[in-house]
Amino acid sequence: MFKEQKVLLSGIQPTGIMTIGNYIGAVKNWLKLQDDYLSVYFIADLHALTVRQNPTEFKQRALSFFAQYLAFGLDPEKSILYFQSHVPEHTQLQWALNCFTYVGEAQRMTQFKDKSAKHTDNINMGLMDYPVLMAADILLFQTDLVPVGIDQKQHLELTRDIAIRFNNQFGDVFTVPDGYIPKTGAKIMSLADPTAKMSKSDPDPNAAISVIEEPDSIMRKFKRAVTDSGNEVKFSEDKPGISNLLSIYTEMTGKTISEAEEEFVGHGYGDFKSKVAEAVIERLRPVREEYAKLIKDKAYLTEVAKQGAEKARYIASRTVGKVYKKLGLVAKE
Ligand code: TRP
Repeated sequence: MFKEQKVLLSGIQPTGIMTIGNYIGAVKNWLKLQDDYLSVYFIADLHALTVRQNPTEFKQRALSFFAQYLAFGLDPEKSILYFQSHVPEHTQLQWALNCFTYVGEAQRMTQFKDKSAKHTDNINMGLMDYPVLMAADILLFQTDLVPVGIDQKQHLELTRDIAIRFNNQFGDVFTVPDGYIPKTGAKIMSLADPTAKMSKSDPDPNAAISVIEEPDSIMRKFKRAVTDSGNEVKFSEDKPGISNLLSIYTEMTGKTISEAEEEFVGHGYGDFKSKVAEAVIERLRPVREEYAKLIKDKAYLTEVAKQGAEKARYIASRTVGKVYKKLGLVAKE
């Protein structure tokens, strides 16, 4: 089709905070992949509307997430970076895909069931349609690879089913995407409960560290982190707290687990926790500093977002055009 490079795409909802878990598990890999793929990274602001948002905070948070993408080193010259709501093709394709998705399929989605149980007073149509919008996000760009966490795998499967269903009827319209499970990057757990994943929307403020968090706050949270009985800094299954801190430490410093274990022989947990905090503070310093500059420069952020949306629309509108034509809608011109 119109692409020379393989396409990689991912979105993040502007809710909660971007955590060091997002950074280690996702963004670090993205930075490497920017050169090998046409990468598309967007802020999934329309998805976030499926639960109630405070409009003032929502706007601020969406802009903040966008600035964090840039602060990480995602490069608008190499990648396409934009807000989902700036590219109307997302919802245009969604409508077409809605007509190729069965209600039963949508109702079977685990996330729909979980969110319906959590927001019993607001089980809106958007909540059920959420995975179809996600399918549209992905299929718009003829995406080859979608880096997804385990919680989004089912949505990716549905995307593939919809694409295959459509292609069976209309020929090769969509690239059928694959999930991308990064080979490296540890799974980072909550500091308050090391048996649960570090979540970007954990209500406990001590559970997660934001990538733009102030040093003293990072230090405080690590000092409070839940650890295990015993006093040896060792990576093992019966020490989920210490193992998690070791993973964070090694990801931030580039050391191996055994090098780190060696380094902390004879040190108490308290000392170890401070060293982990220091490593995180140092590693994130450039991100924090770059972010502080960017978030003040609204004009720059707006311009980057505008150019990103233009590039996205160029590709996305071709897909929508093709789909509408296949469906037999009368052409505009
Ligand atoms: N649903 C994803 C999440 O909550 C965010 C998302 C929206 C996404 N559209 C996407 C991820 C397309 C990958 C591809 O994590």
